[in-house]
Amino acid sequence: MKTITLKGGQAEDIARAAELLRQGELVAFPTETVYGLGADAINEEAVKGIYQAKGRPSDNPLIVHIYQREQLFLLAREISTVAELLIERFWPGPLTLIFPKTERVPSCITGGLDTVAVRMPSHPVALDLLQACGLPIAAPSANRSGKPSPTTAEHVLYDLSGRIAAVVDGGTAAVGLESTVLDITRKVPVILRPGGITREQLEAVIGPVEVAADYGSSKETPRAPGMKYTHYAPEAPVKICRGNRQQVAAELQQKLQDSGQQRVGLMLSRETLAQLQLPEHVLVAELGSFTDLPGIASGLFAALRSFDQAGVDMIYTEAFPCTDMGAALMNRLDKAAGTAPAETVPEQ
Ligand code: TXA
Ligand code: MG
Repeated sequence: MKTITLKGGQAEDIARAAELLRQGELVAFPTETVYGLGADAINEEAVKGIYQAKGRPSDNPLIVHIYQREQLFLLAREISTVAELLIERFWPGPLTLIFPKTERVPSCITGGLDTVAVRMPSHPVALDLLQACGLPIAAPSANRSGKPSPTTAEHVLYDLSGRIAAVVDGGTAAVGLESTVLDITRKVPVILRPGGITREQLEAVIGPVEVAADYGSSKETPRAPGMKYTHYAPEAPVKICRGNRQQVAAELQQKLQDSGQQRVGLMLSRETLAQLQLPEHVLVAELGSFTDLPGIASGLFAALRSFDQAGVDMIYTEAFPCTDMGAALMNRLDKAAGTAPAETVPEQ
């Protein structure tokens, strides 16, 4: 299969992508978080194709994307007051809500669970496409299973070219990390995956929210089944240096000195980079200012992918505070490094 590239801003390209989705084909498209790999959510064969193309385990459920609230009635059996409040404030946007599902939702989407994850993305191209096809669209991140999520159409093609019908190019995804997954079927809502909407933002609207203790560790069975799989893993090992800036800089300088013939990738804040003397064989991804956590988060996946393409042997990065967007950022970094989340927040 030859994967065609369509342009997000062009009406005839959106119409073509919508037609492909209606025919049960797989189409990757931009959202404000990361690119998604879409298929008609009510078409079981199409949904199975997603798992095949990604190499994704079939017990890992998918998020269903909609463009208007009315579509929710097809998918959710019950819409609580808490859900109403959250939808009013955060949709369209990077928040996925877990609802009790209706019978219309095929169990291959939900990994056999009796709940369904739904979100309304805010990217104009995603909304155009969802409206043009008129279908609820199941879409996981459009990467090969286990790899960093794609934030550009090029990333999608790198992973899935020849395995999907089309990718709609809508430029770089702005948030750069996936949506927050919030389970609102519990008395106290639980964050199953930290993401584009922060705990602080949620609590300002609905009061206390729990954070699933299991989202970062592999000890318990996670409530968001996806969290138990290896994720965001580049080819080279990732090491997170922790501590205050002096400690991190000293540790990194030592590692660089010891690295010998190894090709090293550095993924750091501007402030930490400024402390280092860089030998020539180092590949640098500057993520932005340490004080701009959303900015750091937005470039993370692209940086991990650039190291894969350059074929580095080792990747060093640093820890960021776990507040606001830092919670999602550190969750992804810990997963990329295969480490348990640290309890201490670095002092800077
Ligand atoms: O930003 C995003 O959410 C992107 C874009 C494309 O929308 N999508 C995305 O999908 O990240 P995916 O499949 O890579 O991650 C979906 C997460 C997984 O951790 C999955 O286990 C969880 O949502 N999930 C889906 N349905 C669920 C359910 N019914 N109950 C609990 N967790 C669920
Ligand atoms: Mg994913």
